[in-house]
Amino acid sequence: MTRTLTFAIPKGRILDEALPLLAKAGIEPEAEFHDKKSRALRFATNRPDVSIIRVRAFDVATFVAHGAAQIGIVGSDVVEEFDYSELYAPVDLDIGHCRLSVAQPVDAGDEDQAALSHVRVATKYPHLTRKYYEARGLQAECVKLNGAMELAPSLGLSRRIVDLVSSGATLKANGLVETDIIMPISARLIVNRAAFKMRSAELAPMVEAFRKAVGVRDAA
Ligand code: PRP
Repeated sequence: MTRTLTFAIPKGRILDEALPLLAKAGIEPEAEFHDKKSRALRFATNRPDVSIIRVRAFDVATFVAHGAAQIGIVGSDVVEEFDYSELYAPVDLDIGHCRLSVAQPVDAGDEDQAALSHVRVATKYPHLTRKYYEARGLQAECVKLNGAMELAPSLGLSRRIVDLVSSGATLKANGLVETDIIMPISARLIVNRAAFKMRSAELAPMVEAFRKAVGVRDAA
C-alpha cells in the first residue's frame, strides 16, 4: 500500500506564483482546488501518491514540522520566525519576494534613540522582532497581531510595527514609513527532516524536481 505524501501550500499571495512552479515540478491539483466556492481543504493531484492541503502560511510550517505534512512551501519569514529544528529548507524558490521591515508613522518625529531601553512593537513576528532589537541593545515588548498591523500606530497600540513589505502600498495607505529592513524574504521549499530520511525515495526526487523547476524558470 502506498501512503500519500501531503504537500502543504499557503493561501494568499504566494499561491499564484507557487502553482506554476508546482506544475513544473510535476504536481497539479485537481480542478476543485481552483474553485473559490469550495470549502474543501485537502485536494487530490495528478499524482495518486500526492495530495495537497491549503492552509495559512504559519500553519504550513506547523504541519510540516510535526510531520502531518511531509513537504510544503512557505516564506522564509515563517521559517525564521519559528526556527523549528524539524524543518529542512533545501530550496529557495525565488518567488514571493518581499522584506520584513520596521515601520512607524510618517509624522512620528525624532526620538532620542540613545535614551531608549525599551520599545513597544505590534507584529506577527515576536521572535524575529525581539532578536532584531536585542542586537541593538533594546528590549522589545511585542503586541502579537495576526494581520492589519498597520492600524496599530494610529490607534495607539504601539509606536512601531514589524511586518512584511512588498510594494509599500499598505504602509503608504496607512500613513506609515519604512525605517529599517530586518531581512529580505522569499519562499522556500520545506521538508520534514524525519520524513526526508524515512521516505527519501519519494522526497529526494521531489526536492530535485523543484531545484530543476527553479532553474528552468530562471533560464526561460
Ligand atoms: C501583507 C503584509 C502587509 C502587506 C504588504 O499582508 O502583512 O499588510 O501584505 O504588501 P504591500 O507592501 O505590497 O502593500 P497580506 O496582504 O499578504 O495579508 P495578511 O495580512 O493576511 O498577511
